[in-house]
Amino acid sequence: MAEVVIVKNEDEAGELVAQCAATLIESKPDAVLGLATGSSPLKVYRHLAGRVKANHIDVSQVSGYALDEYLELPLTHPESYHATIKRTVTDVIGLDPQKVHVPGDALNGASMNDAKAMRGAGAAYDRAIEAAGGVDMQILGIGTDGHVGFNEPGSSLASGTRIKTLARQTRVDNARFFGGNLDEVPTHCITQGIGTILKARHLVLLAFGAGKANAVAATVEGPVSASCPASALQLHPHVTVVIDEAAAGKLHNVDYYRWVTDNKPDWQDI
Ligand code: F6R
Repeated sequence: MAEVVIVKNEDEAGELVAQCAATLIESKPDAVLGLATGSSPLKVYRHLAGRVKANHIDVSQVSGYALDEYLELPLTHPESYHATIKRTVTDVIGLDPQKVHVPGDALNGASMNDAKAMRGAGAAYDRAIEAAGGVDMQILGIGTDGHVGFNEPGSSLASGTRIKTLARQTRVDNARFFGGNLDEVPTHCITQGIGTILKARHLVLLAFGAGKANAVAATVEGPVSASCPASALQLHPHVTVVIDEAAAGKLHNVDYYRWVTDNKPDWQDI
């Protein structure tokens, strides 16, 4: 399934993935990017912005679809994923804001008890991605519990975009964005499903630090199981896992992954 690339640090990962994204955009100016929030992809976005500027790459036709959004958080809240995507991706790279979408665009803090709004939002997002021609390159982080998007352990591996309840572990991990206050972290979200994510043409999973080592090992070398939703990536024909030494710490086949990277034919991209 996956090519596993072990890099020195987040910066090297950012360079590698940004180069791949830049090449995609140069060959397909209306490329569709799948965007993750969180810490892991930040260097990718910064390096891509650098390449866009240095090489005068036209990104005016590029569109983006984010993975997820918290519920019952106003879109204007600085930690909403609408605000985060604008601050860390759209503004940094210079994308057209009209072409960058986040699940639940229309929900804007709507009550979770608004059944009609909640039910309709997920399917509408999946239809929008399809209408755009599908995601060319999906950037992913991974939760310490093995989630991708906010598909927590036990999620259907065939799921579309829908409302999910965040795991306690995820809320604890993300409390750092809310002044360390767990009570401030939303309890629910809308997230692309595993089935949605698997439709993207190229998946790039980023993970750094020892805290991700168990989740990375379960994803790459464990059985395909809803207990580790990211393991569903094994079913996809084009996945690149870019990790640092610490995140690779629990993998068994490290020597082979390094051998593959060191002996890669020049014509092969990630
Ligand atoms: C973010 C997302 C999550 C994060 C994951 C890792 O849009 O969908 O799956 O990618 O929680 O977060 P970081 O990178 O902050 O460790």
